[in-house]
Amino acid sequence: MSEMIDGKAVAARVKEAARIRAVEFERANGRKIGLAVVRVGDDPASCIYVRNKIKACEQCGVASYTHVFDEKTTQAELIDFLGKLNADANVDGILVQLPLPKHIDERACIAAISPQKDADGFNAVNAGKLFLGERDGVVACTPRGIIELIRSTGVSIAGKHAVVVGRSNIVGKPIAALLLNNDATVTVCHSKTQDLREYTLSADILVVAVGKKHFITADMIKRGAVVIDVGMNRDETGLYGDVDYENAKDVAGHITPVPGGVGPMTVAMLISNTVDGACK
Ligand code: GUN
Repeated sequence: MSEMIDGKAVAARVKEAARIRAVEFERANGRKIGLAVVRVGDDPASCIYVRNKIKACEQCGVASYTHVFDEKTTQAELIDFLGKLNADANVDGILVQLPLPKHIDERACIAAISPQKDADGFNAVNAGKLFLGERDGVVACTPRGIIELIRSTGVSIAGKHAVVVGRSNIVGKPIAALLLNNDATVTVCHSKTQDLREYTLSADILVVAVGKKHFITADMIKRGAVVIDVGMNRDETGLYGDVDYENAKDVAGHITPVPGGVGPMTVAMLISNTVDGACK
């Protein structure tokens, strides 16, 4: 039997630390720390994520400024608006909820956010700093949250074989870089990997971010491994991770549930990044 990693409890600690710093900032500066949240269109999952982020701001004494744009908004309009947020002295962090409608180039929008206000850490400057091992950049929220969750288990990362399944810009690539910066031996697997099971079975730390319900089964997990499930797969019957939790929990040493694992940490780290940005 494994130990469940309680993402809600770890996230509550991170948010409480952020709240204390936000109160101190307000006392010293006479204004609240501010996070601008931009959503385009009404993708149902994005609406849920944005709502959770706004709620976390309220809990932590951070002002949230939500801007909802019509699905048909042009890229030029959005980039122009981001420029205004960059210049707004009450805004310390900016977040553009992804995915954006198809006619908008996500890269161009992310590039339009000032690296100092890039609460998601998706800007090329911040991603580059992470890959260079420079510590003064903003680290993407989900990868930062994953490192905290691994630390919460007491299992040390240095020297371990960490296997990341998935190579997205928002999870797979940055978590691979972070694990490497923490002295893990890192393997990145993806949709073209041959004999995936051979890799996952040798993972002391397994991070799965592929977006496929129950893609990783118990027979693919090394006994005692730390398993971090980033999946958020919704269907008519509920919300499911990328790992078959019910069976995997008998093999893993520590494992995150879905929901209640990585999800709350992403939100907590967003607040933490915003507070860090304001205090810099
Ligand atoms: N879409 C899925 N995950 C994320 C995230 O962490 N940040 C933003 N902005 N959009 C997302």
